[in-house]
Amino acid sequence: MIQKHILIVGGTGMLAGVTSCLASEHLVTVIGRDQEKMAKVVRQNPETCHPLVVDYRNEEDLSKGLQESIKRHGPFKQVIAWVHKDSGKAMQLILNHSLHADVLHILGSQTNPEHEKKALNISEHQTYRQVQLGAKQDGDNFRWLTHDEIVHGVIDAIEHSFDYQLLGQLVNKRGMNG
Ligand SMILES: NC(=O)c1ccc[n+]([C@@H]2O[C@H](COP(=O)([O-])OP(=O)(O)OC[C@H]3O[C@@H](n4cnc5c(N)ncnc54)[C@H](OP(=O)(O)O)[C@@H]3O)[C@@H](O)[C@H]2O)c1
Repeated sequence: MIQKHILIVGGTGMLAGVTSCLASEHLVTVIGRDQEKMAKVVRQNPETCHPLVVDYRNEEDLSKGLQESIKRHGPFKQVIAWVHKDSGKAMQLILNHSLHADVLHILGSQTNPEHEKKALNISEHQTYRQVQLGAKQDGDNFRWLTHDEIVHGVIDAIEHSFDYQLLGQLVNKRGMNG
């Protein structure tokens, strides 16, 4: 298999399982801020998993870090981006640094996928796809997806080329348990 250079933004939290899975076959650059969480993830695949410790809300640091990563390991062929709302231009900067990539944008339940896509400037050479996190019915209530369910859903979306995939179902906040 040909090794791709993959960027995983937020790959030290709920997506840590995705990072480990992809780093077992590819070169992966992972963005996060917390050194301990990062070290734990990198330790699992020290040869192929490369940390980019940066606050993605800092535009200058993010651009600089992405450029260095591309210089060292080549252009990103795939991007998995879990970027919190209200993070300024972070998602746009990530797109600007992955012009020929398959970009999988992970969205929370409260995000409007169409608005999110419209607000972004997507290059004609990149593929932009979305995975939205929903909730699971648990008896009479709903609960958030577990990390395993999220990891499984994201890996499934990487392997299939849906433009949009909802994991679980969308419910309003009042319907949530916990
Ligand atoms: N269904 C839904 O809509 C939904 C939505 C959101 C969350 N959830 C649930 O709630 C849980 C907690 O959510 P979470 O957002 O804390 O997820 P998380 O994936 O556990 O943590 C966020 C990830 O993004 C990184 N990150 C956050 N802000 C950053 C910044 N400014 N710069 C660089 N990296 C940054 C974090 O690294 P650092 O900590 O090192 O910065 C971490 O890797 C999740 O585990 C999920 O199960 C569900």
